[in-house]
Amino acid sequence: MGDRRERGAVTRRRRTLTICGEAAAAGASSKRTARSEQSAGDASRNATANGEQVHETAKSRDDGLKDRISCHRLQESLLSSESGYSNYRGILNWCVVMLVLSNARLFLENLIKYGILVDPIQVVSLFLKDPYSWPAACLIIVSNVFIMAALYTERQLAMGKISESTGTFLYCIDLIAVLCFPSATVLTLTSMTPVGGILALLVYTVLFLKLYSYRDVNKWCREIRHVQARKLSRSNSCPSVQRANGNAAHCHVTYPGNLTHRDMYYFIFAPTLCYELNFPRSPRIRKRFLLRRLFEMLFLMQLQVGLIQQWMVPTIQNSMKPFQDMDLSRMVERLLKLAVPNHLIWLIFFYWLFHSSMNFVAELMQFGDREFYRDWWNSETVPYFWSNWNIPVHKWCLRHFYKPMLRKGVNKLTAQIAVFFLSAFFHEYLVSVPLKMFRLWAFMGMMAQIPLALFVGRFLRGNYGNAAVWISLIIGQPIAVLMYVHDYYVLHYGSATEGGASSQ
Ligand SMILES: CC(C)(COP(=O)(O)OP(=O)(O)OC[C@H]1O[C@@H](n2cnc3c(N)ncnc32)[C@H](O)[C@@H]1OP(=O)(O)O)[C@@H](O)C(=O)NCCC(=O)NCCS
Repeated sequence: MGDRRERGAVTRRRRTLTICGEAAAAGASSKRTARSEQSAGDASRNATANGEQVHETAKSRDDGLKDRISCHRLQESLLSSESGYSNYRGILNWCVVMLVLSNARLFLENLIKYGILVDPIQVVSLFLKDPYSWPAACLIIVSNVFIMAALYTERQLAMGKISESTGTFLYCIDLIAVLCFPSATVLTLTSMTPVGGILALLVYTVLFLKLYSYRDVNKWCREIRHVQARKLSRSNSCPSVQRANGNAAHCHVTYPGNLTHRDMYYFIFAPTLCYELNFPRSPRIRKRFLLRRLFEMLFLMQLQVGLIQQWMVPTIQNSMKPFQDMDLSRMVERLLKLAVPNHLIWLIFFYWLFHSSMNFVAELMQFGDREFYRDWWNSETVPYFWSNWNIPVHKWCLRHFYKPMLRKGVNKLTAQIAVFFLSAFFHEYLVSVPLKMFRLWAFMGMMAQIPLALFVGRFLRGNYGNAAVWISLIIGQPIAVLMYVHDYYVLHYGSATEGGASSQ
């Protein structure tokens, strides 16, 4: 094949030279008619080109003879790593075809066993117990109180009406209330469903992280203002709102000109957890891009709900009995069975949230920074995965928690453990409170990332490391899901589950 390539190159070169020769000849003849005094020079150039052509033809004839005499050369087989071959596109396509076929069989088996379980009405009941009572939505609306409290505190600080320590104290109360008020409401309100509770707590957790960032950035601005008191303007550097193409032009804001409702709510709805006075903005809203993301959002949402109802719920229900009986082999079998739909749904969820939804919101708000994820799928180490799959959270952790700790002299490992501890706390908070069940599975799952990271980093490299990260994702999540669901069923439906869960 390599020889054929070489021969092809020689032929191409010959053809190119011939075409060049003809062109030179044609050019020379046209010049002859135009300027006769240059004809001698042209003729000599033509002769040189012809000479080159004859030489090349002879050389290629020699090459052709050599090719016929020897047909072997020193080379490695494609599949040996020494060959340096890396184009596995066909193999990748084969994997996709096998994946589709094996999953099609699973889909069919599932349909034959259970019939169609997808029921959109049932989804509504996950959010609402009573169609006239919307506790989760009301709880989310109440969050505006905490946003206003933060803005009010910032304005007082900017005007110098309260001291920095009083501001910190007020912020602490506000941030503690942001975490405690919704959890107390979720725990006490019987009309709140677990799914409604998770949604409300997720909104409050995001709000907590955003307000923390808002406070940090405004404090840094005050510190800069103290240093450059004279240079910085106290007002917006673009006070009059200009209009361009029907939209308000984005003007540069300086502290404390940013302490407005408009600025605060832009940050609250923007797809980021890190506050900035002047976010990078995209020049316009691309309508086609927006519609594509909206379509993806709606379609993938339905697909996730359908897959959960059709594929995950029956598998989880059938897993209860082996878990209650502590039948180890059946438990492993159920776990592996659940791993496939769980992983597929998680992948769809990733695309739905980080690509479709965040890009949709960003496009709508002309928010310019679209780096919501990086190539986590190539992770060869566990820290690489955590630094690349959820960029908004990672960025917040780095900017407001990890780097401040490093700057204070805390060593790297301790700082990393502290970040994972904080992350583990929020994971547990988001699961245990809505389920009203404190089991620490999510907390332990997150903390287990540290020894896993040390193990993978020490013993596994390259593709082996990448495979280890994938396995931890594929197997780790369904373990946590089964633990929580099992405990929830045992707690709430106890004996009823034992009878119903025996069918396979
Ligand atoms: C813990 C965590 C923050 C570590 O991230 P990391 O990228 O591996 O950290 P690194 O040690 O490589 O350093 C990162 C940054 O700190 C900087 N840094 C390192 N040592 C420093 C020091 N002594 N002082 C100041 N900065 C320092 C680095 O220069 C780097 O900066 P850059 O990002 O601007 O390049 C990350 O693993 C993480 O975000 N974990 C939690 C993720 C999570 O829970 N996600 C939840 C998703 S649901």
